[in-house]
Amino acid sequence: MIDLVNLDVLIREAEIWAIGLRRDFHRWPELGNKEFRTAERVRKELKELNIEIENTLKTGIAGTLEGHKGKTIALRADMDALPIQEAVPLPFASERKGIMHACGHDVHMAILLGTAMVLSKIKNQINGTVKFIFQPAEETTGGARRMIEKGCLEPKTDYILGLHVKPDLPAGTIGIKYGKVHASSDVFSIIIRGKISHAAYPELGIDSIAAASQIVTGIQSIISRNISPLASSVITIGSIHGGNAINLIADTVTLEGTIRALDHCSRELLKNRLKDMSHNIAKAYGAKAEVKFQKGYPALINDNLIVDVIKNVAICETAVEKVVELKEPTMGVEDFSLYLEKVPGAFIFLGSGYKGKENEGIHQEGFNVDEKCIGIGIQLEVMSILKLME
Ligand code: NI
Repeated sequence: MIDLVNLDVLIREAEIWAIGLRRDFHRWPELGNKEFRTAERVRKELKELNIEIENTLKTGIAGTLEGHKGKTIALRADMDALPIQEAVPLPFASERKGIMHACGHDVHMAILLGTAMVLSKIKNQINGTVKFIFQPAEETTGGARRMIEKGCLEPKTDYILGLHVKPDLPAGTIGIKYGKVHASSDVFSIIIRGKISHAAYPELGIDSIAAASQIVTGIQSIISRNISPLASSVITIGSIHGGNAINLIADTVTLEGTIRALDHCSRELLKNRLKDMSHNIAKAYGAKAEVKFQKGYPALINDNLIVDVIKNVAICETAVEKVVELKEPTMGVEDFSLYLEKVPGAFIFLGSGYKGKENEGIHQEGFNVDEKCIGIGIQLEVMSILKLME
């Protein structure tokens, strides 16, 4: 039986330590796949907590804490910063010009280390194993994929939890979302090939610009005619390049864009229809279309039973003042979805804004965090782990 009074003291101690760590991470931010100093610090702290480290990347670490026999639960933090010049004059502001922890990943790491500290001190009283995953490059190349390939969920993981700061909720609040949380994202390119001719003799060429124009407008009907009005998805063409001279019929146009969907079926349907339509519209103009996809992140879908567990833990066993149930998913992406493809789990939002203030959003130069959320985050992770192990 865990002594809850003692546990509370441990969490307070860990909070103070974690705030110091967060400030260090914040002062020395590193971009995706370049988290060398950050990873070194994380590795050192985990070692000092006697957490076993194995199978790691240069910029990614997975540590394991083994208690008594029981379930295995993983916790994940991301480590990368963003190419943004910090505009908040914090005493521990970024020392690296043009790089900033503007997405709170410094906070996520500090919370996970704080949680590791608490759990390592009660190791002999816990029934199960905890994996601490510190991954690189959430913002860029999907570090989650490489961590999974390295075996961070092996030999078995029963559940996984992740959290993300949310500046539009005040510190002391958490946000939960059942089911769909983030969209999937894939990028595509469509190359339309026609035939060059003089602009004055269009009948001698095949106009790839005319065909491309029809494709750009035509594919929007996939959203309105092939996807249920009750589902949400997006097709965006973000760039068009084609043509070399004003008096020539262009022989090639390249369209590039992204598709987003909130479930696997819509994602596949969007891709198939996009391909079909591009081929057939191009064909109607006598042109040819070549469609290529680059696979991005899947949709992030929470396990509702685990969300329920965390909600109850937050209300009954932590200092969380308020649990807000988020109604809408977002069309933004998060590579935590890759873990959730393998293991059931939940991604939770941690209020990090200053109460009564207008807080700047993530990825903004004025982004800032009320550090009160760090203690809450540690407590929420520790108590959720203990509950999930029961
Ligand atoms: Ni982030």
